[in-house]
Amino acid sequence: MSSIVDQILREKEKQDAVILAHLYVDGEVQEIADFCGDSYYLSQMAQKTDAKVIIFCGVEFMAESAKILNPEKLVLMPDRAADCPMAHMATVEQVQEFRDKYDDLAVVCYINSTTELKTVSDVCVTSSNAKKVISNIPNKHILFIPDQNLGGFLAPQFPDKEFHFVDGYCHVHHFMDPEQVKTLKAEHPDAKVACHPECNPEVRALADYIGSTTGILKYAADTDAEEFIILTEIGVAHRLRLDNPDKQFFFPETRPVCPNMKKVSLEKVLRVLKDHKDPIEVAPETAERAKKCLLKMHQWGG
Ligand code: 13P
Ligand code: SF4
Repeated sequence: MSSIVDQILREKEKQDAVILAHLYVDGEVQEIADFCGDSYYLSQMAQKTDAKVIIFCGVEFMAESAKILNPEKLVLMPDRAADCPMAHMATVEQVQEFRDKYDDLAVVCYINSTTELKTVSDVCVTSSNAKKVISNIPNKHILFIPDQNLGGFLAPQFPDKEFHFVDGYCHVHHFMDPEQVKTLKAEHPDAKVACHPECNPEVRALADYIGSTTGILKYAADTDAEEFIILTEIGVAHRLRLDNPDKQFFFPETRPVCPNMKKVSLEKVLRVLKDHKDPIEVAPETAERAKKCLLKMHQWGG
């Protein structure tokens, strides 16, 4: 009996499938992926791929975005229950209320959002391209949904604009405890602190670098330090340790773990490759409306 990894690789080849994995899924799943990275990188790979089948090892909004960009492809998730709670933390009604209030409003939607929210937004962003994308927006008033933390990190970088927020957050990053970060800093005074912008403002204030998941990997590789305190989901430890065997990485005592990303397993990847169960479906008219703001992100953020 061949190993599960061999079976996945064989099945993938047979079906002309590509496996995309976010850096927060388990290391063994990252290892079998064709492309592994942050949300923006994966969206770019989903847009470029020639494969007939996309297996998305991540959460629902990522797989739906891949389907919207590739309506003709079969997009599958190893576990359809892997959803991002933050994606649902804004409503179409809230967006309409802000549109009624401000004539020149631009609605900027973090890619971590439902497809429905994308249909009523002007442009999407991820944490790695948000600054570049927003620099292209002429409007003074910006409604940033749903993540108040990424929005709060971006707003001071655009002093001429007026930002508005809803109170969405990522529970993994938002509830990180600044006291635990201070303790780590005291234990490792020479360590550099790299932080995801989804973290709360008190935690962000303790960081030497703030950036996306891929940004954090790059910062750790390029920075001349031996120790790093990493303030994002624990899944990045896999690549950090592989890429930097001589460096040490420390995470807060309360481990930042995304239970949804952790639903993806090798067994489920193999199963969905074989049974093609519950493919991602987005109604064509909805997909067409949501696609506009994803394409604008690729145009402005590329
Ligand atoms: P990035 O992949 O853009 O760093 O976002 C992190 C995240 O929370 C994905 O769900
Ligand atoms: Fe959502 Fe946070 Fe999990 Fe990313 S880490 S999928 S933002 S809950």
